[in-house]
Amino acid sequence: MPTLLHIDCSMRQDGSVTREITGIFAEEWRQANPDHTYVYRDLGASPIPHVDEASVVAGLLLQEGLNEDRRRAWSVSEPLIKELRAADTIVLGVPMYNYSIPSVLKAWFDRVTVKEHMIQEPMSEGLLTGKRTIVVTARGGAYGPGTPRERYDFQMPYLRALLEQIGLDRNLEFVHVEMTLAHSVPALEQFKPIADTSREEAVKNVRKLVLVG
Ligand SMILES: Cc1cc2nc3c(=O)[nH]c(=O)nc-3n(C[C@H](O)[C@H](O)[C@H](O)COP(=O)(O)O)c2cc1C
Repeated sequence: MPTLLHIDCSMRQDGSVTREITGIFAEEWRQANPDHTYVYRDLGASPIPHVDEASVVAGLLLQEGLNEDRRRAWSVSEPLIKELRAADTIVLGVPMYNYSIPSVLKAWFDRVTVKEHMIQEPMSEGLLTGKRTIVVTARGGAYGPGTPRERYDFQMPYLRALLEQIGLDRNLEFVHVEMTLAHSVPALEQFKPIADTSREEAVKNVRKLVLVG
């Protein structure tokens, strides 16, 4: 059964722009595909523990059997890995925190970036290639081409690199919402029209992505 894995990681439940936009995608995808499977993971509300040595060693030694410590460590990674493998479409909501991604999402990547998923040669096939990935980012400021902050965007290039090494870059779309802080930071008030246009464009874009999927 085709499956959508929807992951949010904003620390905010209310007022989160990424949650709003991924929510629109998920809702419309579910309406368009009522008999398909939908899985939701909220890393913001339920953070997973950071990866530790026992988890990494457990992943490497799976075939040989695990001791108690490693079994416990693997019990955190395994459901995340299974969930990802079972998905056909993945929609990720990613706020920009300190020019990069939330640490809760980094913790998720550290657990699902296992050797079985790694792409050895550029463009070679892997266990996760063939899936579709949509990343919705929200940034308080603006980082697009030609903006003064363009070179501070460590979020999109980093996500692209993380997804590329596990083969999730082959069918990858980014949707950005920029200047989200214009509505809450008085010094950025002049950028409200840019923020509103950016949000409206993002809504249109995710709706289009449901239709082409
Ligand atoms: C801890 C933290 C760090 C942030 N760092 C940045 C930043 O480096 N650049 C930026 O443009 N916005 C930054 N922001 C603003 C968020 O990117 C912005 O509020 C975004 O809309 C958050 O996503 P959300 O609306 O889904 O919660 C930061 C916000 C927080 C809470």
